[in-house]
Amino acid sequence: MTTHQNPATGDPAALTALERTALLTAALRAAETSRADRLYTDPYAAGLAGSTGRALLAEVAAVTGRRTDGQDVPSTPDFNAIRTRFLDDHLRHLTHERGVRQVVLAPAGLDTRAWRLPWPDGTRLFEIDRPALLGHKRERLAEATPRADLRSVAADLTGPDWEETLRASGYDPARPSVWVLEGLLYYLPRDEVHRLLNRIAACSTPGSGIAADLVNSAALTLPQMRPLLSVFEGWGTPWVSGFDEPEILFDACGYTVTALQPGDEGADFGRWPDPVPPRDVPGERRVFFVHGSLRAPR
Ligand SMILES: C[S@@+](CC[C@H](N)C(=O)[O-])C[C@H]1O[C@@H](n2cnc3c(N)ncnc32)[C@H](O)[C@@H]1O
Repeated sequence: MTTHQNPATGDPAALTALERTALLTAALRAAETSRADRLYTDPYAAGLAGSTGRALLAEVAAVTGRRTDGQDVPSTPDFNAIRTRFLDDHLRHLTHERGVRQVVLAPAGLDTRAWRLPWPDGTRLFEIDRPALLGHKRERLAEATPRADLRSVAADLTGPDWEETLRASGYDPARPSVWVLEGLLYYLPRDEVHRLLNRIAACSTPGSGIAADLVNSAALTLPQMRPLLSVFEGWGTPWVSGFDEPEILFDACGYTVTALQPGDEGADFGRWPDPVPPRDVPGERRVFFVHGSLRAPR
């Protein structure tokens, strides 16, 4: 593994609240891995999540899922399981069947695709995240061997110069790439989301892929979402942006994308418990899985 500028720390207490959300997603992947009907297996997740990740997950689990008062909050575990599997399959398709050899996880968090998925020879996988988080991850995974050419890129995606750090770690903007923005966009203000997508487009060659998850604006305001939103606010990591038409957001930044909701064909895997609200019904809480590619400039 090539590493750029990662301070090492194995102590979750040294992570910021935003960095600690990666422990929550690791705990979700550990919980999924322990299910008989799991959608994927992440043998590293339990160790990465640790007791801090399990405690964060317990807080989320306490306010989501079926409730006796009828105010159901969508299931975070089911959503997360589908998201992980959906993106695993998407990356497998683009690398194994479409020949893409540059994969950028932005941010990577404690994702372990570099270690747990089979990659074609020559695949270079870039993990962008903040320095402390990547240092923490490096310590926890010191004994494990990645199955791709892993490049660890310590950078802030809202900072001025992550593109430079990425290029210095071996990324070639002239070659096709696929970017995964998983578990990030709702934490960023709307203008930062636009800026980030434009910056990614500017360092990608036409035809390059993108995938992301987002929520819509009702997910930030509906009363039944309040308990979950309050948990994130209590951690100091509120959800601050939602997009009702992800296709329009990405289009404005040069991408043509498809947005699926969990439960839609291709994003269900037999796991989504609720009906899928049609897109033209207003006021529904929605989450979206987006995938698509960068258009050639006109
Ligand atoms: C909920 S986790 C998701 C990570 C990973 N994609 C996953 O699914 O496990 C959010 C991650 O975003 C990272 N992050 C948040 N804001 C960031 C920024 N401005 N630059 C780089 N990383 C950021 C955090 O450090 C954390 O690892």
